Amino acid sequence: MSDIHVVILAAGKGTRMKSELPKVLHPVAGKALLDRVLETAGALKPSTITIVVGHGADLVLQRYRNRNDVRFVVQEPQLGTGHALLQTEPLLRGQSGTVILLSGDVPMLRSKTLGDLVAAHGEAGAAATVLTARLERPYGYGRIVRSHGRIARIVEERDATPAQREIREINSGIYAFAAERLFDALAAIGPENAQGEYYLPDLVAIYRRQKRPVATCLVSDPVEIRGINSRTELAEVSRMVRQQKNEELMAAGVTIVDPATTYVDSNVEVGADTVIHPCVFLEGTTRIGAACEVHAGSRIVNSTIGDRVVIRNYSVITDATVENGARVGPFAHLRPGAAIGADAHVGNFVELKKATLGPGSKANHLAYIGDAKIGARVNVGAGTITCNYDGVAKHETVIEDGAFIGSNSTLVAPVTVGQGAYVAAGSAVTTDVPAGALGIGRGRQENKPGWADKRRESSKTPT
Ligand code: UD1
Ligand code: CA
Repeated sequence: MSDIHVVILAAGKGTRMKSELPKVLHPVAGKALLDRVLETAGALKPSTITIVVGHGADLVLQRYRNRNDVRFVVQEPQLGTGHALLQTEPLLRGQSGTVILLSGDVPMLRSKTLGDLVAAHGEAGAAATVLTARLERPYGYGRIVRSHGRIARIVEERDATPAQREIREINSGIYAFAAERLFDALAAIGPENAQGEYYLPDLVAIYRRQKRPVATCLVSDPVEIRGINSRTELAEVSRMVRQQKNEELMAAGVTIVDPATTYVDSNVEVGADTVIHPCVFLEGTTRIGAACEVHAGSRIVNSTIGDRVVIRNYSVITDATVENGARVGPFAHLRPGAAIGADAHVGNFVELKKATLGPGSKANHLAYIGDAKIGARVNVGAGTITCNYDGVAKHETVIEDGAFIGSNSTLVAPVTVGQGAYVAAGSAVTTDVPAGALGIGRGRQENKPGWADKRRESSKTPT
């Protein structure tokens, strides 16, 4: 067990987000802010992780109820960042080692940087070490005030003098603290500032007064400590995170024709030599194999795609699987539970839900296939519909290997079309078709010779 205790502050309202959802649950490239911070923190192998919640606490607790490696304390009311950390006292007082304080709204921090902070803190033997950054535009951040080169205190934007506002070195809001006597010092923070809040950064001045050593650790890439306070910042950070993801994929051998319009969530995997065309969305836990082609306008969510698969334009695929060599689209809709076998073809305006299409089978045009098991080498003609719903319950359609379903057939489930059987075009199939048989379920055509000519004759107006 390490001697590190992580505390994540996530109680603030996030006023500028103007949201019902707590700020830390907003997603960036498919992953909530808090998930990202937890992932970064996890790399330190901390012995405990404590999250301070307040605004929207119920939703946060609900979301992480299955994680037994994190604990929560509720801060109510929210009186500032110093007050927030003080709430962890019942859990952390008496601990030795280091408390690492993170903000739930700073999602781009790398674990390497956190490691550097821990190392710097240890080397300095400091009571507190502040992770700082140098920014061209430091507006809004707490400024690092130094005297004789050493950090003296931190002033918030609102409390800063015009001269202090010129300081470019800012407080990232991320710190390492010696656990020892931390809570005594926190209790000494007062609310004497423009916001009337208990500011955690005031700890720096308190420690300096007590002659306890305070250090700083400068992050080399300030982008990492970008916080999210508004929807604009959410979009900006999301764009940067996606760009990083695209660069990782390209470095691993994926062609991305236009990274600016390719939206890939952080957990998505894509194999080498796959080509992703513009305006493609790959979301959630999607996995795409090697040498695939995903054409423009497609959206793939939580789905598994094999190797050498072609997804043509404007296909929407959710919670589905597509095996090696299959072709899907354009304009195909694979809904949850759709499973497309190897080398199968799904064409335009074909929708599958909770249905398997066996290897080498084809449903090339305008079909609805729901609650169905379709075997290998089946041909599903244009306009075929499985009537899976009787108004009360769903029923299953089974089409065995090698069967041929003529165009514009309706298969009224529950029904089975046996191996190698044929269904005549335009049939309403209401009873099983045995293997090898032809099922015809429609009125027989009758031709009336001369009927049309006679009709024209009789409708001629008399002169
Ligand atoms: C804070 C720092 C500022 C720093 C900046 C970096 C203070 C007073 N200022 O400012 O020096 O430059 O972060 O991003 O700390 N929170 C609580 N309870 C509260 C208040 C806040 O849990 O009572 C949480 C928020 O949910 C958020 C984090 O603490 O996750 C930071 O709070 P926020 O209000 O965003 O602080 P900043 O104004 O950004
Ligand atoms: Ca903030």
